[in-house]
Amino acid sequence: MGTMSNKAVGIDIGGTGIKGAIVDASSGKLLSDRVKLPTPDGGEPDDIVDTVQQLIKKLGGLGKREPVGVCFPAIVVKGKTLSAANVSPKWIGLEAEKLFESALDRDIHFVNDADAAGFAENRYGAARGAKGLVIMTTLGTGIGSALIYRGVLVPNAELGHLEIEGVDWETKASYAAKEREELGWADWAERLQKYYSKLEAYFSPELFVVGGGVSKQHEDFLPLLSLKTPIVPAELRNNAGILGAATLAAGN
Ligand code: BGC
Repeated sequence: MGTMSNKAVGIDIGGTGIKGAIVDASSGKLLSDRVKLPTPDGGEPDDIVDTVQQLIKKLGGLGKREPVGVCFPAIVVKGKTLSAANVSPKWIGLEAEKLFESALDRDIHFVNDADAAGFAENRYGAARGAKGLVIMTTLGTGIGSALIYRGVLVPNAELGHLEIEGVDWETKASYAAKEREELGWADWAERLQKYYSKLEAYFSPELFVVGGGVSKQHEDFLPLLSLKTPIVPAELRNNAGILGAATLAAGN
């Protein structure tokens, strides 16, 4: 805060890769290249912490005051990870924020991955200027979700696990499910249609933002959906989690 720059570090931990960059938390611009390392097999806490330390080294280390934000694919309440849908079960009930704080020797801000991405899209990306409720969804290994109302994040929405036809719908409609079952765009879009129709009926949002790597190919599936709510691809792509985590850490 104050007169110094708003330099902060953002780290995005995912099921397959861990990405990080130094960012300017006022403008949402990257100040460094994005560094990516593979997520260690098994996704165990100590191995992930080691990888994050290596990644920070590759970024040139931490300055004295740089805030650090880390986002992670689980429910995060008061720094504790309370779920582990696509990572090692060892994360359940873990004091994750504290674990990173002692390894990095500073306070950090620890947050759910989709929440970080949604916050960033609202601040700097596809949902900039939205006045009502924005629902961000990330279609990847799982389905992540974030609710942002007038710039305020309502944390830990776990709408990817909405039950439809008796099943946890991320197992049917995530990008991983599309790949696993070798679904074409039209078949996958049918499943997405069921999903977004439910969200629309429950929340009446102003806007849906769709992130995850597959959002690059939005032209292949978003036009197949029929919704009252506008649905747009994320703009920040692979940087959304990094930017959101860093911005939340900087307290902006
Ligand atoms: C997890 C969420 C996470 C999402 C995207 C889901 O399986 O439950 O916490 O945000 O995957 O990574």
